[in-house]
Amino acid sequence: MDVIIPAEKNKQLERDRKAEVIKEIEPTVEKLYDQHQAKQNLWFPNDFLPSDEKMDDDKKSVLEKLRERARSLSDAVKVALTLNTLTEEGLPHFHRLIATYLGSDSIWQKWNFMWTAEEDRHGNILRDYMRDTRILNFGVVEIMQYYYINSGFTPDWEMDIYQILVYTSLQERATQVSHRNTGKVVSEPLLKGILQNIAADEAKHFNFYRNAFKAVIQVDPNEALKSALKLLPSIDMPGISMPKFREMADVVRRVGIYGPWEYKAIVDEIVKFWDISSLTGLNEIGNQAQEKIMNLSVRLEKVAKYIENKAQKKSFSFDFLYNHTWAMD
Ligand SMILES: [Fe+2]
Ligand SMILES: [Fe+2]
Repeated sequence: MDVIIPAEKNKQLERDRKAEVIKEIEPTVEKLYDQHQAKQNLWFPNDFLPSDEKMDDDKKSVLEKLRERARSLSDAVKVALTLNTLTEEGLPHFHRLIATYLGSDSIWQKWNFMWTAEEDRHGNILRDYMRDTRILNFGVVEIMQYYYINSGFTPDWEMDIYQILVYTSLQERATQVSHRNTGKVVSEPLLKGILQNIAADEAKHFNFYRNAFKAVIQVDPNEALKSALKLLPSIDMPGISMPKFREMADVVRRVGIYGPWEYKAIVDEIVKFWDISSLTGLNEIGNQAQEKIMNLSVRLEKVAKYIENKAQKKSFSFDFLYNHTWAMD
């Protein structure tokens, strides 16, 4: 006699099983946490943009010179900075995901607290820079930030702990690439330094999450691959609900900071790191997922070429840039 388990109960069993795996890999997570701490480079926003009660003439002139230099930043860079900042300011969304689904009585919580403290500096320093240099209509950015946080981030995959780890891995690398490439196209030295420091943090976070998920693959490869396959083809940035998000992402792609080619490179790298092609002894679901994941690189290349080929010269205008209009290839 076949035993029919209701779909909802099945899902709950799957969630329970995954929670057990997450518990099982805690010793590895402890090691990753310790390794991360050993390499931690704790910088603070005030190291870059000091703010003291008394501002003497020397400090005033430093700030004035900075404003002068920052005026040379291109519109595209200002868009990238705004998008990067808003993405960082979405931190409450991610803190919630990790706190809710990875538990509150284990190393995961300890990690979440430290990670949140590190990430918090990213939004702060970018915000300080944009504000102190007066390169934007800052009030508009604050309104965008408010609505972005207010609209929440509740992706349909959030109940799947494995997908949370896949997402955080991809997202950390994506933010690293984005900050690093923004740093490459700016000549203003203070901003360059800020972006390098943030990118270095993101690289370490990426290392933590991708190794945590590698440990999951070792314990539960079939389900791990099934979850990875759901997210790897494309990830929606949490800012998708933001007004003008698509236009901002288009600008960032056109200026060569982050787009489908960068995403393809991230997926290629992570699939290789997780050594998905070498996994053996999988069940039917695992085998299918493995095959599809191994075909993703070709698919993502097609997507990148398609987007590149169909793009035409376009005009952009944003209210946080005082609706000034400019065109990009
Ligand atoms: Fe960050
Ligand atoms: Fe990060």
